[in-house]
Amino acid sequence: MGKLEFDIQNPENAIKLSFLLGNGQVVLITSCDAQKKVHGILTASWMTPTSHIPLLLTISVGNGKEGSESENYRASYKLIEDTAEFGLNIPTKELIEAVGKIGTVHSNQVDKYAETGLTAMESKMIKVNLIKECYLNIECKVTDEYITGDHTVFVAEPALVHINDDVLENGIFSEKYRSKNNQIHFGDIIDLWNMW
Ligand SMILES: Cc1cc2nc3c(=O)[nH]c(=O)nc-3n(C[C@H](O)[C@H](O)[C@H](O)COP(=O)(O)O)c2cc1C
Repeated sequence: MGKLEFDIQNPENAIKLSFLLGNGQVVLITSCDAQKKVHGILTASWMTPTSHIPLLLTISVGNGKEGSESENYRASYKLIEDTAEFGLNIPTKELIEAVGKIGTVHSNQVDKYAETGLTAMESKMIKVNLIKECYLNIECKVTDEYITGDHTVFVAEPALVHINDDVLENGIFSEKYRSKNNQIHFGDIIDLWNMW
């Protein structure tokens, strides 16, 4: 089989390649402002653990300026900056439509809970709401942040983790939640929108 050079100076190709490389499990990031008036939800596929002990997680959030026509403006970015906290919520396949919709509108313009029918659940260690319909919810406190380009990577330490009572079976994560068929991956949404 031959090899071709793929031109990533072409922005369209660069974005497409990031789609292929970042085809991981999709999560919903919740956030709020310090006064708890604006509640954000962001669909995110750029989430990865980055340390076992201490357990640290990273998310990458677009840092474009509001009103600048930037593709990378995220209302959630300012909210996470405001509180240095976020909730990490993991949805299963049946929430795919909500996950898609949340990824297309801004939290300071639309009440994404009302729009999708998802239920806000109070957290215990942070201000931010969590999403009840997600099977795993992690209350996260930001410990570091790095501007990497048009996104900022937030590093966070989990303060408390909530799981549905059927997630563990005899001490192991049950097939229902381990199965890739029941998780939403970035590519599932891209397939849905025919955007590869
Ligand atoms: C499947 C999918 C994955 C996404 N992953 C990310 C991501 O990892 N980081 C990010 O900043 N935006 C990501 N987005 C885009 C945001 O979800 C989208 O811009 C959203 O409207 C931002 O909401 P907000 O303005 O309320 O923060 C993704 C969108 C979709 C549909």
